Amino acid sequence: MKLKELQKILVKGLENIKFTDPFIESRRILMEVLGISMTDLILNEEQEINKEKEEEIIDILNRRKSGEPLQYILGYSEFFGNDIIIKGKVLIPRPDTEVSVENILKRLKPNDRFLELGVGSGAILCSVAKERADISCLGIDISEDAIECTKINIKNLNLKNAEVKYSDLFENIDGKYDIIYSNPPYIRSDEIENLQIEITDHEPRLALDGGEDGLDFYKKIISKYKDYLNKDGYLIFEIGHDQGEFFDKIGAEIIKDLNGLPRVVIMR
Ligand SMILES: C[S@@+](CC[C@H](N)C(=O)[O-])C[C@H]1O[C@@H](n2cnc3c(N)ncnc32)[C@H](O)[C@@H]1O
Repeated sequence: MKLKELQKILVKGLENIKFTDPFIESRRILMEVLGISMTDLILNEEQEINKEKEEEIIDILNRRKSGEPLQYILGYSEFFGNDIIIKGKVLIPRPDTEVSVENILKRLKPNDRFLELGVGSGAILCSVAKERADISCLGIDISEDAIECTKINIKNLNLKNAEVKYSDLFENIDGKYDIIYSNPPYIRSDEIENLQIEITDHEPRLALDGGEDGLDFYKKIISKYKDYLNKDGYLIFEIGHDQGEFFDKIGAEIIKDLNGLPRVVIMR
């Protein structure tokens, strides 16, 4: 089959999948599987694709049609300019979360200590550690998959200043930190089933469920963080777009994302 015919099949097949641009996604699949650039894709559309590659691409299309996110299929996700490996049951890092990294980096002083509660894939921990070699970065999670995935990303990005270990929030944490960050599970329990199939059927519930009002983890962390935060340090959270009111009431600074929605909160 010719490249252009395969692309047509992909675009058509991806058409009914919500929240994706079939054109962009089809190009991404072709570039990834065939190991070619965007220019190759445009200039070589008459090229014949061998049977093996064709089957691999159709298999990806079928997995996408059944709702599996592309990041799980390809095994990586781009985040803050880095390729983050996605292995096992870990949350796919969202582009919205890059606002958190910017806000963490802005507030770090030389040789600070950074702690992340609930690292997931390690996308944020690794992005901070990569930008700032002088900062020591510790991430924790209760998911063995998350710990394993973060270890892989630390190694893959060759980071000497980052580590990850098991802890139920602050349970295994000693000492104090200058910035404590968390993007905890914050979806209301009864909302989870209404989310898109990519999330409900594929992403770990452990990474999503924030309890009845979605605020369980924030409340737990807020009740303890002062014991682990240095004087003049910062507690930084990513929050859901409809959770600003709770943080406003407790006097936190609220930072909006590019869509004008509350996204990051800062507490001292
Ligand atoms: C929303 S995900 C965020 C992952 C990552 N920080 C990101 O933004 O892509 C929340 C993470 O918290 C972890 N988690 C859930 N309960 C936890 C607990 N009691 N202690 C530590 N981590 C927990 C989950 O396993 C998951 O990796």
